[in-house]
Amino acid sequence: MGLVVPFEDKNPDKGASIESLVSLVSADMERVNAMILSRTGSDVTMIPEVANHLISSGGKRLRPMLTLAMANLAGYHGDGHVKLAASVEFMHTATLLHDDVVDESDMRRGRIAARIRWGNQASVLVGDFLLGQAFKMMVEVGSLRALDILSSAAAVIAEGEVMQLAAAKNTETNEDEYLAVIRGKTAELFAAACEVGPVIAGRPKAEQAACRSYGMNLGIAFQLIDDALDYGGTSANLGKNVGDDFREGKITLPVVLSFRRGNDDERAFWRRALEENEASDSDLETAIAIMHRHRALEHTIERARHYGAIARDALELFPKSAIKDAMLETVDFCIARAH
Ligand code: IPE
Ligand code: IPE
Ligand code: MG
Ligand code: MG
Repeated sequence: MGLVVPFEDKNPDKGASIESLVSLVSADMERVNAMILSRTGSDVTMIPEVANHLISSGGKRLRPMLTLAMANLAGYHGDGHVKLAASVEFMHTATLLHDDVVDESDMRRGRIAARIRWGNQASVLVGDFLLGQAFKMMVEVGSLRALDILSSAAAVIAEGEVMQLAAAKNTETNEDEYLAVIRGKTAELFAAACEVGPVIAGRPKAEQAACRSYGMNLGIAFQLIDDALDYGGTSANLGKNVGDDFREGKITLPVVLSFRRGNDDERAFWRRALEENEASDSDLETAIAIMHRHRALEHTIERARHYGAIARDALELFPKSAIKDAMLETVDFCIARAH
């Protein structure tokens, strides 16, 4: 499946990168990576095996970088941000282990998914181990407010995933319901990751709220793009299989828009392909063709730009700085990303 949406040609954000963010937080990120490695240890050898399979295969480390960047923006001087950033990445890693079981995905970060190699049970249990380790690190930091924010996020993420499960294969799902799902399953962790920085720095509520808003809206934009890429990206770029969402009947915005805008035949197609669990490769090609007809991927990307603009505006509260510029560029990167 080739690159079929205007990610390449018409994308004004093309060229944006997270390189500035990466380099500005690199010293702290080294400490986060060391912390992550040290906390996957266990005498139960299957735990580090499964955890490291996923952790050592890379990943953008976007969420912990945001925690570090926000702590920096807030002028934080201390060590707590390192453990909080590691907790955030552990929560993310645990979510991915669980998500691939729920979604029956076979590929993650360019590798065979942990659940294919070690089984669903091991993936779920090691995900639980990582969540437990995440909470231990949060407690060690000693900020009750940060613990509150991140533990609430863990509950909201699970709610989002369950909401999505309940909406699966239901072509009546509307855009608001879809948005509620992605706020929960994805944006909440971005929001929490960003909010804890100014919280441990003891910054005023308005700044905490601004950082949270940046994270929340960036997270929404990020998932909108992820959902467009599931139809319009390439497996090689994504490190995960294209078409997973379609095959499992997940109702994402490209589907919601195409279903709403479609004629009777197209709606019958969506119902059959998504509700009946028998989608073939040629069904996926048909789905993408219908999406093109209704400009559903393009408009999904437009929605992402809208949330990206809100994220950018949230940072207006802060004076110009290198870290702020890097976070502004991160918004563009998330919208332009092909991976
Ligand atoms: C994947 O997140 C899960 C979604 C919210 C779409 P990332 O794309 O940040 O995954 P990694 O950590 O870089 O692999
Ligand atoms: C991402 O959902 C959100 C979580 C991992 C909780 P997806 O199911 O779209 O993520 P990918 O596409 O598997 O990375
Ligand atoms: Mg998934
Ligand atoms: Mg996805």
